Amino acid sequence: MPDSAERTGPLTPVETLEDVEHETSLRPRRLEQYFGQERIKESLRIAIEAARQRGEPLDHLLFHGPPGLGKTTLSMIVAAEMGVSIRITSGPAIERAGDLASLLTSLQPGDILFIDEIHRLSLPVEEVLYPAMEDFAVDIMLGKGPKARDVRLKLNRFTLIGATTRFSLVSQPLRDRFGAAYRMDFYDEDALRAIVARSSGVLGCRIEPDGIAEIARRSRGTARVANRLLRRVRDYAEVRADGVITSSVADEALAQLSIDDLGLDQMDRDLLSVLAERFGGGPVGLETLAAAISEEADTIMDVYEPYLLKIGFLQRTPRGRVLGRPGYEHLGIDPSTRSAQASLFTAQALEGE
Ligand SMILES: Nc1ncnc2c1ncn2[C@@H]1O[C@H](COP(=O)(O)OP(=O)(O)OP(=O)(O)O)[C@@H](O)[C@H]1O
Ligand SMILES: [Mg+2]
Repeated sequence: MPDSAERTGPLTPVETLEDVEHETSLRPRRLEQYFGQERIKESLRIAIEAARQRGEPLDHLLFHGPPGLGKTTLSMIVAAEMGVSIRITSGPAIERAGDLASLLTSLQPGDILFIDEIHRLSLPVEEVLYPAMEDFAVDIMLGKGPKARDVRLKLNRFTLIGATTRFSLVSQPLRDRFGAAYRMDFYDEDALRAIVARSSGVLGCRIEPDGIAEIARRSRGTARVANRLLRRVRDYAEVRADGVITSSVADEALAQLSIDDLGLDQMDRDLLSVLAERFGGGPVGLETLAAAISEEADTIMDVYEPYLLKIGFLQRTPRGRVLGRPGYEHLGIDPSTRSAQASLFTAQALEGE
């Protein structure tokens, strides 16, 4: 399966299919090229070292967090560091329990099975995973009718790595069977600068440190966004400048893409301004908000919201989404207007509940 097929999520406004294909070439192969996520890396280093010393497979791992933070990349790196093969599939791709059973029986000792979007496994498929993860066995039914009988097949010991953008949708019995679950965080600017610098080298771009910093600063804390912006800015530098990415070239290129000073794009701003202007700052339900900006609720929840929540522009309350104070400031709307005050008050009240 080509790497680009691992992306099932929607393309964002400044992303092209070519970007998705390029993810393969920009993907770091070893842990030392994977920047940031220090706590996770340290824990993985220890686990990998210990497993190797014992000559055993790693415990099953679950990576969760917003798209583009490096879950798939890290899973592939774990396989490389363990020196084992990795088989890649995804929750929606496994339709029947039998498909998973045959995949499991084909694994060699120590292999890694990577299941992306693991929250989307159907229940019958998921139930095949339980004994597989716990006892390295699958139960299959032989024959039909009164002569049918259950047979338990032994599997080679393997490691399951699951990835999901929706930890809350992973069932408790499945969660319980992972040896460790890691929550990926948005990257800080240092890590993003390192990512942009490395990708510039891979792509052969001429870029100045200030250019690197400008792209890093406007990448929404997301590795995938950093790489994508770098490719857009490189195009601009080649066509509209002398090919060198300086901070002013980066700034012009990003402005032309409607990426603002904080790295927010048109969709982020539409979401915030609709929330402010049409819904008086909220609270408003996700579905209603999605309909108002003609976007899928899932896309808002997976792609746009996590970063807006992280920077406090948006708040999630039991009664719906509410615009945060920094969100008003960014839009240049005075939060002291009546409806704005009312929604801020509601947000604070709900938080205290
Ligand atoms: N820590 C990192 N260091 C360097 N590059 C990274 C890092 N994390 C991710 N990347 C880059 O970002 C791109 C996106 O990462 P990846 O596909 O692993 O994200 P993901 O979390 O699996 O996203 P999704 O939830 O959409 O599947 C990769 O092509 C890789 O080049
Ligand atoms: Mg992925």
